[in-house]
Amino acid sequence: MRILLIGSGGREHAFAWKISQSKLIDALFITPGNPGTAQHGVNVKMDIHDFDQIADFVQKEKISMIVVGPEEPLVRGIYDYFKNHPDLSFVKVIGPSKEAARLEGSKDFAKSFMQKYKIPTASYQTFTKENLYQGFQFLESLKPPYVLKADGLAAGKGVLILDNLDEAKRELSLMLSENRFGEAGHKVVIEEFMKGVECSVFALTDGVHYKILPTAKDYKRIGEADSGPNTGGMGAVSPVPFADDAFMQKVEERIIQPTIEGLKSENIAYKGFVYFGLMNVQGEPKVVEYNCRMGDPETEAVLPRISSDIVALFSLLETNELYQGTLDIIPDACITVVLASGGYPGQFEKNRVIHGLENITNSKVFHAGTTQEDNRLLTSGGRVMCVTALGSSIQDALSKAYNEISLIHFDDMYYRRDIGFDI
Ligand code: AMP
Ligand code: GLY
Repeated sequence: MRILLIGSGGREHAFAWKISQSKLIDALFITPGNPGTAQHGVNVKMDIHDFDQIADFVQKEKISMIVVGPEEPLVRGIYDYFKNHPDLSFVKVIGPSKEAARLEGSKDFAKSFMQKYKIPTASYQTFTKENLYQGFQFLESLKPPYVLKADGLAAGKGVLILDNLDEAKRELSLMLSENRFGEAGHKVVIEEFMKGVECSVFALTDGVHYKILPTAKDYKRIGEADSGPNTGGMGAVSPVPFADDAFMQKVEERIIQPTIEGLKSENIAYKGFVYFGLMNVQGEPKVVEYNCRMGDPETEAVLPRISSDIVALFSLLETNELYQGTLDIIPDACITVVLASGGYPGQFEKNRVIHGLENITNSKVFHAGTTQEDNRLLTSGGRVMCVTALGSSIQDALSKAYNEISLIHFDDMYYRRDIGFDI
């Protein structure tokens, strides 16, 4: 099989690594990819939102499967584009349809879907410019902290959690009347604050059947002990010890099954990964958010724990035959630690020379923001790379990962030293 993988981060390097191990693969292309994905296939420069350009490439290279890493092409309808293409409807797109991707692309859609299918989540109401005043009244009826969410995609920045009522009202006005998050904020979901510990659960689905992947915990804040601003994720650990069998049974019965059944009953096609961002509220799982793709950096800690051929599983999605496949999970723990450019998520310098990768023997380094220039590997993003190690326990995995990190260097390299220490 000839596969095209879309994306350029650590998640896509992990996918490229895993896909390239498949017995079913004849060629792997990655667009746009990064120096890490280039170790496992051929990087191709394309605009990942230009579906016509991608279709030309698919035709030229006889691609029969497209694996989509990030949400934006999915929310823009890449699945439907190929399904409706006169010559390329046979291409298997691993991802949800445009309608299903609204689970991530519209918070209001996700909340009303959960309400309709009685999936546990925070209570909420949605407001627009037209009913701003009712929004103020709703805020007054809640206890702090106040949770405000821009309806659309806002590059992970569209959620505000505020302690002060006046500030919450001000932010609501800014979003609805002053374009604070552009179009994404023209509708705002205000919801009840849930107190608990978060974890990420992932399922691969063909829209009828599903397989549950290993759980993971993502460390979102820049600073140790979860301090400072939010980032794209500074590390992840799998499995999550509190997500034990009893908890996961609740997750499956109350959240995963009704989600898949809800999509099916509405004839909404979904042939890919569903990401359930969950809050464990005193042992009861509640949905914080859906994403229509795998998490980053969770993927980097989840895929190394899957021993099955992932392309074999992908191949079963189109014909709703996922039940015929097996998803085997190895018992080892996995940890991934993000090495970031100093200053991230604010301003940071690029083009720092990265040293020491040749000394890495005991872990896998997934590239995120790197660039190759002649013989040198340079930093090119905020999150630069993810150092990933497996171990017989979380402690074992993290001591391996941190030992390896000590061998890597670039100027102003920053990483959290407490990934995995709290669980
Ligand atoms: P989201 O993009 O919806 O996942 O929100 C981003 C982050 O905000 C989540 O990962 C949580 O840490 C936090 N968050 C969102 N909604 C809530 C909520 N209702 N209660 C508590 N924390 C929340
Ligand atoms: N790690 C969070 C996300 O991928 O959205």
